[in-house]
Amino acid sequence: SAAGPLKNTTNRWVGSAVAAGPLADEADYRAVLTREFDSVTPENEMKWGVVEATRGQYDWSGADAIVSYAKRTGKSVRGHTLVWHSQLPDWVDDLEAGELRSTVKKHIKTTVSRFKGKIRAWDVVIEAFNEDGTRRETVFQQKLGDGYIAEAFRLAHAADPRAKLYINDYNIEGINPKSDAVYELVRSLKKKGVPIEGVGIQTHLALQYGFPTTMRENIERFARLGVDVAITEADVRIPQPTDAAKLEAQADFYEQAWDACHAVRRCVEFTTWGFTDRHSWVPGVFPGEDDACLFDEDLRPKPAYHRINP
Ligand code: G3I
Repeated sequence: SAAGPLKNTTNRWVGSAVAAGPLADEADYRAVLTREFDSVTPENEMKWGVVEATRGQYDWSGADAIVSYAKRTGKSVRGHTLVWHSQLPDWVDDLEAGELRSTVKKHIKTTVSRFKGKIRAWDVVIEAFNEDGTRRETVFQQKLGDGYIAEAFRLAHAADPRAKLYINDYNIEGINPKSDAVYELVRSLKKKGVPIEGVGIQTHLALQYGFPTTMRENIERFARLGVDVAITEADVRIPQPTDAAKLEAQADFYEQAWDACHAVRRCVEFTTWGFTDRHSWVPGVFPGEDDACLFDEDLRPKPAYHRINP
């Protein structure tokens, strides 16, 4: 693009999720990532189920590869994620409450300490709410109770006091019962002095559901609580087949999300969940939908890219 790389267009962090496999194996993938973005989020490599699939046996190979790539190329790293009900090791399911608590504590301490000083921001707890704003009945909620969230933030802060700590969820782009619940939680955590510094809005959008038009207003209300906001997993899936009109509609969605973040000073990051349609989580989870990224399978920028980087 004549305007130069995406990362130079704004004073926000501009990031992408990255997968260690293609980062190692595909020179063209690496080149576009290095050129266009100034922050990276490991897509899976720091998740509990990956780093400690077998109890007590750690595998940091993917996480280390991404963190060392970031250091080499001068990129910031968003850590993802410490407490999540999905992609958990199987052995965690069977622990009784007391042991679960000490094991979560150990997991947070071990993971955050290992990358101390190398992670700008951590997604500490993600996806803790249902769509109606009630707490999701995860293993943590069921066995540890409401307080597990505050505890996770305190433990992460103790392990790396300079990392910015975020709560994070999907379907909280606009104002709705779920984002109301996150809002109330952040307010009460701040009041109690819990070290929470940000709200991550995933922003997994789909053309057929329309754009969440209250996104800017929602970001503004979070900012008024005194926390940063980050767009952490933006993508816009397209019901197949993709055509030119749908690519334009996708560009509209990306532009509106980008503008909503840029309208609020405390929205400090715009990260997409992958950057190329060559590698995407979407078709595996939503059969019949695809092509959610800014670059196509051949790493050519799509209309959405040109829209946010004209
Ligand atoms: O690495 C193994 C491979 O060894 C094995 O052969 C293969 C067989 O299934 O699985 C591979 O692991 C897969 C992993 O992605 C790496 O490709 C897992 O099965 C698969 O479940 C996993 O999916 C990830 C998903 O989180 C897990 O729930 C997606 O890549 C990742 O994009 C997605 O990301 C989440 C965020 O963390 C949180 N927000 C929602 C977002 C999208 O679901």
